[in-house]
Amino acid sequence: MSTSLIAFIAGSENALPFTIADVYSLVSPTFDANSATVISSSINLIFACLHHGDNTLAIRFALLPITLCNLHFDSRVVKSNCILPFLNELRDVIDYAAKRHITIIPEVDLPGHMQAALAAYPYLGCTGGPYEVWRMWGVSEEVLCAGNDSVLTFIDDVLTEIMEIFPSEYIHVGGDECPKVRWEKCPKCQARIKALGIKGDDRHTKEEYLQSFIICHAEKFLNEHGRRMIGWDETLEGGLAPNATVMSWRGEGGGIEAARQHHDVIMTPDTYLYFNHYQSKDTEEEPEANGGYSPLAHVYGYEPIPSMLTSDEQKFIKGVQANHWTEYITTFPQLQYMALPRWAALCEIQWSQPEKKDYADFLERLLRLTRLYDALGYNYAKHIFDVTADYRVNTKNGTVDIFTGTI
Ligand code: ACM
Ligand code: ZN
Repeated sequence: MSTSLIAFIAGSENALPFTIADVYSLVSPTFDANSATVISSSINLIFACLHHGDNTLAIRFALLPITLCNLHFDSRVVKSNCILPFLNELRDVIDYAAKRHITIIPEVDLPGHMQAALAAYPYLGCTGGPYEVWRMWGVSEEVLCAGNDSVLTFIDDVLTEIMEIFPSEYIHVGGDECPKVRWEKCPKCQARIKALGIKGDDRHTKEEYLQSFIICHAEKFLNEHGRRMIGWDETLEGGLAPNATVMSWRGEGGGIEAARQHHDVIMTPDTYLYFNHYQSKDTEEEPEANGGYSPLAHVYGYEPIPSMLTSDEQKFIKGVQANHWTEYITTFPQLQYMALPRWAALCEIQWSQPEKKDYADFLERLLRLTRLYDALGYNYAKHIFDVTADYRVNTKNGTVDIFTGTI
């Protein structure tokens, strides 16, 4: 793998838990571009996500390797002219990151996860609304109407604004979790399907092909403006946009399929790299999380280049990303706790050849890193210091031998 080390901090439902000052404090004094360059010649893909969420319009972004942030603004803020100072803050962060050779890449999630946008602009939905900004998390059935030309204009306008703010080569357009129930019933969407001559087949419904039309529209617009598009693995359904990079989040299958189709891939499987998941089975003792279980050893054990790909196909796996959805994360220290030390494992699975990986050796080095975390006052998960126990039945002595250890 040659390119990106990516962490992805995302949020949605909660009130703003962090401030720009938090970001600055976490673009760590220890991070310097030289060491980043030594570790990876192109450590410049740092992911951001401008997510027009169902219940917030959330700016989500992360700075790597040890920085994270999550900002929110909802439609009320957008309506109320607070946007300018906010955009200036964003520009500040982008600039701050750029000086450290970090690129922030935004995600605007479309055509799903758009209920907040619909609340502000109801004519963009299939039913015309009214819509409310959502107050819970999940996947809303209210999505952009794919049969409405104003939606295409809206997409172009939003992408234009995004491109004005974010100079990144890549722009992420989401494409995940877009239910098709409204499209199935919407006369405009069905008219578009007819006009495009779209037919469902045994692989995809006609509505899935319709989503591909929307994503292809977004990609064409971005490409015409010199940018490249990223989409979640749902963008495979109905056919990938011609130049798309795919982020594989529902396991690795989407990434494997995209690589086979010779599309660039970023692996971020929820089976390994969702750092909003628990890192211990003793969940009673943990801050509440989304569920899931991704302890440090499991993350470290992930090999992002699938062995079933040919060596030519493997070249399309460009990097990894860890996601931190923050529905259950209410404070900045809690976000640190979910990120550290799993980020250290994230770095190694991206940078290391599989044959060089050695978990015991990693733990020893991690011990030194935790001293740095301590010195910097970071809140990190301390499961590595837990006592481990192993039982073996000793048939010779007729005993059960118990081995305990720590790092
Ligand atoms: C995702 O977690 N919905 C990309
Ligand atoms: Zn519609």
